[in-house]
Amino acid sequence: MTPRKRLVAGNWKMNGDVAANEALLAALRDHVPASITRRIEVSVCPPFPYIGQAAARLAGSGISWGAQNLADAENGALTGEVSAAMLADLRCHFVIVGHSERRGLLGETDAVVASKTRRALAAGLRPIVCVGETLAQRDASVYQAVLSAQLDALADVLSDVPAAAYVIAYEPVWAIGTGRTATPEQAQQAHHWIRACLARRHGAAAQQVRVLYGGSVKSGNAQALFAMPDVDGGLIGGAALNGEEFGAICSACAKSKQG
Ligand code: PGA
Repeated sequence: MTPRKRLVAGNWKMNGDVAANEALLAALRDHVPASITRRIEVSVCPPFPYIGQAAARLAGSGISWGAQNLADAENGALTGEVSAAMLADLRCHFVIVGHSERRGLLGETDAVVASKTRRALAAGLRPIVCVGETLAQRDASVYQAVLSAQLDALADVLSDVPAAAYVIAYEPVWAIGTGRTATPEQAQQAHHWIRACLARRHGAAAQQVRVLYGGSVKSGNAQALFAMPDVDGGLIGGAALNGEEFGAICSACAKSKQG
């Protein structure tokens, strides 16, 4: 079995401006050298207006770029929305779908997340589909049922899709932006469960699906998380806004699971 290609993706969320991005993108080029991008995939997802800036600065660097969201429609009278085809036009590699901030704050349902995933795949983008439980759900010991339901909603969309064409990100809501990270063991348990859910629907292909961990990943905890057998990299929020820190996380991922 070919090993899964590890991935570190930065989610800039609604941060940055042209000047700050210029500095961050230059720092990324310095701190994420070819010695890293030869071993793992690295990508950053800026806000829509800055995707072109990232593309201009990262072309040829070995680091790809993507988006944080896409419209659940092909085109039309949808003021402010951005379609999958537009993102493909900007040569986006990945698109984050169903981030918990969109599910929780902006009311994205499992059905909308599935539909957006379908649109992303159809446009040749690689969706990074986020799943994860809230603190209340974890405390009520129902996190596995929550993950199963979120993944079951994607089952039809992901059937017959090659495993390399999409990525799942496990992002426990209680760990996002809180400084409270899942322990490596908690992450491994959840990732193992996610892979088992995928296997139930998609058989052996589940072994090839990359499952990222997201939620307060820093250079100091990345190594232990990435050492877990079912953790194939990370979706990085706050720490992706610092080139040196992001580079250190990428380096930890590149060094993980050697030999
Ligand atoms: P965080 O965000 O690393 O700041 O916790 C991760 C995410 O929301 O994707």
